Amino acid sequence: MRIDKILANSGYGTRTEVKELLRKGRVCLNGQIIKDPGYSVTEDDFSLLTLDGQPIGLSEHLYFCLNKPDGYLTAMTDDRLPCVGDLLPANLKTKKISPVGRLDYHTTGVLLLTNDGDLSHKLTSPRWHKEKAYLVTYTGDPLTEKEQALFAKGMTLTEDGHKPEKLKPAKLELLPDQQCRLILTEGKTHQVKRMLAATNRQVIGLHRESMGSLRLHDGQEPGEMYALSPEEIAALKEE
Ligand code: URA
Repeated sequence: MRIDKILANSGYGTRTEVKELLRKGRVCLNGQIIKDPGYSVTEDDFSLLTLDGQPIGLSEHLYFCLNKPDGYLTAMTDDRLPCVGDLLPANLKTKKISPVGRLDYHTTGVLLLTNDGDLSHKLTSPRWHKEKAYLVTYTGDPLTEKEQALFAKGMTLTEDGHKPEKLKPAKLELLPDQQCRLILTEGKTHQVKRMLAATNRQVIGLHRESMGSLRLHDGQEPGEMYALSPEEIAALKEE
């Protein structure tokens, strides 16, 4: 595999940033400086790579934070509709990567993609209580302190044909222009839409800003993903 691709996939920056690391002579293979971003390294030689003299942590697992675009299914393949798997570079398609949890077709924002089954399991378990923040655009009367109090005490969803569902306390920040920020510590199906529907509002735009410590990077456009740095991976694992 090309050395710039190995570094980028391992969380050492974008392809442009890793080219800069190489240009500065900070990357060595078996003690020899490698400056050519196209230099090809065999899998057997991965363990001989260093950055600033330190072994490059080539994780067997891969972790990417995608800014999910509107109009994409949270799935790796689909016969009819665009899906987030279509956004993975070709060299990663065979790596058994899948999305952690689910965002609706029109929801945008933070979506973790990984082939680390243990982490995926942990982050989708009902016992994972870290905050997920959603920026919501809605129609209907502006939300008020009444809904703030209702969500804060942990509301119960009573929907036709379904058993009542008790939710955990959620934080509601009121914003201008029929927007709000809703911070949840659980992830029930369509939870944001159902909470707003229970107060007679309809969600017309939904963007996930964060999931635990995971956030989009500055300037990260819809459809773009970055490889998590070793620190970002460690932070998620610790949460
Ligand atoms: N809640 C929803 O209703 N939809 C999402 O995509 C995520 C949370």
